Amino acid sequence: MGNLRRIFYISRADASLDGATVKDIVLRSQRSNRQLDVTGVLAHSGQHFAQVLEGTAENLAGLTNKIRLDKRHGQVTVLFDEPISKRDYADWSMGFLYDASLTEEIEKALSDSTHQPQDRDGTLAHKIFLHVSDLARP
Ligand SMILES: Cc1cc2nc3c(=O)[nH]c(=O)nc-3n(C[C@H](O)[C@H](O)[C@H](O)COP(=O)(O)O)c2cc1C
Repeated sequence: MGNLRRIFYISRADASLDGATVKDIVLRSQRSNRQLDVTGVLAHSGQHFAQVLEGTAENLAGLTNKIRLDKRHGQVTVLFDEPISKRDYADWSMGFLYDASLTEEIEKALSDSTHQPQDRDGTLAHKIFLHVSDLARP
């Protein structure tokens, strides 16, 4: 399939978000991503999200607009949006993992992006992406 892209973003979870809501987001995402042929993984640190989304540009555009507007999180910050030749998460309509060890890096990346873009070369973005990949495939 041509035109495949990967989007990786981080965000801050709404303070009132509870476990049942996160579970509901994951279950609904799995169902609707299957219909859109979107795959990926959602990582939750307790206070943040990091999400990999893979699919065609057309399918990702509509979905990321919805996700960006979702009040259950904020400061949605896209760390990369790039063409890919192959999916990393072909078997997961939306994998889920919880790991508090993501907190520090995501917090740093979110505060860098609002205060000063120290991460122009994307080093921290790649570090977080690799951290999520390692957690997803131990
Ligand atoms: C952190 C986070 C990740 C989300 N990921 C997805 C996703 O991968 N797929 C999806 O369909 N909705 C996802 N959602 C939910 C969407 O924002 C939105 O609520 C959903 O697409 C329902 O749209 P609808 O009202 O048009 O059915 C996510 C929400 C949050 C807060």
